[in-house]
Amino acid sequence: MAEDTTTTLFFELFSGLPRQGPGDASSTLRALSLVPDVGAETRILDVGCGTGLQARVLAQNSPASIVAMDNHPPFVDILNDEARRLDLDHRLEARVGDMHRLDFADASFDLIWCEGAIYIAGVEAALRNWHRLLVRDGHVAFTEVCWTKPDPPAECVSFWEGEYPGIRDATALLNAIDACGYETVGHFMLPRSAWWDDYYGPLERNAKAFRTRHRGRPEAQELADQCQREIDVWKAYSDYYGYGFFVARVR
Ligand SMILES: C[S@@+](CC[C@H](N)C(=O)[O-])C[C@H]1O[C@@H](n2cnc3c(N)ncnc32)[C@H](O)[C@@H]1O
Repeated sequence: MAEDTTTTLFFELFSGLPRQGPGDASSTLRALSLVPDVGAETRILDVGCGTGLQARVLAQNSPASIVAMDNHPPFVDILNDEARRLDLDHRLEARVGDMHRLDFADASFDLIWCEGAIYIAGVEAALRNWHRLLVRDGHVAFTEVCWTKPDPPAECVSFWEGEYPGIRDATALLNAIDACGYETVGHFMLPRSAWWDDYYGPLERNAKAFRTRHRGRPEAQELADQCQREIDVWKAYSDYYGYGFFVARVR
């Protein structure tokens, strides 16, 4: 089915970014170091991989095999092209798929990775669904936005109530991980630069060019406004929230 105009504009606004959410290679590697015994036999599923910078970092820094999936085919094509260019395509394969319907056999993976995408399924729903896909002692590694300080200002609260009312603090996320049958082996916050360097910085530049290209189109201007508002809220209030990386083992 053809994408509607808003979806087409959305993907245009987000095109050409190094990544589609906050993150950086050093945080990916720090999380990977919390998973024991990653070797040539290790099978990783990267859920909501986008153009897959994190999947490439995993493939370049471990001998594991990685299946990366995303429901936006152009992202999948970009990652497969990159895997071929880097001569990683024998161990890194991107596929089009829906995280709500992960049709892999039970115990297909040793590690499920998910940077910036678990919120789409919901933390608890995703963690529960992933259980059957993991081997005994399998691990999950995911990032999720969380409050980092109490009493955020009203404007910040109202933004997040509109965008993602499910936002909570790290303690609440650790409790959720536990309640879903996993034992946390480590967690840490991503640095502020992980929001800006490969994500909001390039996105802000994209939004400016996008506005100019679509001058006179209210739906495009509105989309650029929403995007800029998210960036402006972050610039003003990023002391109050951040992205946490959580690594946990099936209990
Ligand atoms: C915020 S981006 C994160 C991408 C990447 N992991 C990163 O950190 O750069 C979320 C990704 O989830 C994908 N996505 C959204 N809904 C999905 C679904 N139902 N199944 C699979 N992927 C989905 C989007 O296309 C997008 O690439």
